[in-house]
Amino acid sequence: MPRVKTATKTSAPSSSPGRQLRYAVAMSLDGFIAGPAGEYDWITMDPDIDFGAIFKRYDAFVMGRKTYQVSGAGMMGGSTVVVFSTTLRPEDHPGVTIVSGPVEPAIRDLKARPGKDIWLFGGGELFRSMLAARLVDAVDVAIVPILLGDGIRFLPSPAPRAGLSLTNHRHYPKSGIMSLEYAVTYR
Ligand SMILES: NC(=O)c1ccc[n+]([C@@H]2O[C@H](COP(=O)([O-])OP(=O)(O)OC[C@H]3O[C@@H](n4cnc5c(N)ncnc54)[C@H](OP(=O)(O)O)[C@@H]3O)[C@@H](O)[C@H]2O)c1
Repeated sequence: MPRVKTATKTSAPSSSPGRQLRYAVAMSLDGFIAGPAGEYDWITMDPDIDFGAIFKRYDAFVMGRKTYQVSGAGMMGGSTVVVFSTTLRPEDHPGVTIVSGPVEPAIRDLKARPGKDIWLFGGGELFRSMLAARLVDAVDVAIVPILLGDGIRFLPSPAPRAGLSLTNHRHYPKSGIMSLEYAVTYR
């Protein structure tokens, strides 16, 4: 029987110093962040995952319009919330910043301000834009032990290639979730 390591840290450096943009999501083993109709019932809640500690790491959240329409911004109360969309009207969404332009200036501006890390909350489409602009510093993926067969991809194609360097991993035995953290490296 193979031994399972838990909460083991590796020493790989992150890709950039300072405030990081981290794409942190739950993913099925076959690479989906939601089912074909946006289902998320398969994302199990493991009692050992400390969501309070995870949220404390961030004070800014960025997300695509589709994620915002599912999640809202309620659980990010008091934090900076930036929603990327060319179709939402800012006046209809007080309390969040709607950005319709290119991703780079908005993220460079956020990174230049003092603060904690920035949670790239999803989804895959926005992640692809951010990756293409070389803005994503880290990928934190909680692999949920299920095969969905179809759905919304963690990273839709076509997308640029990027290197990943493992910085942390943790196994949650109660749910079988495997949490993997990577620094992103660009060539
Ligand atoms: N498993 C998880 O942890 C997790 C986490 C987050 C989300 N999700 C799920 O993922 C699904 C949504 O993901 P998704 O990949 O389909 O969509 P998404 O990335 O959330 O949203 C895509 C939308 O964001 C806007 N957008 C993307 N790139 C942009 C850019 N460069 N500039 C301006 N606007 C941009 C566009 O909105 P407009 O069309 O308005 O222009 C685009 O249609 C939802 O079902 C959500 O529940 C799962």
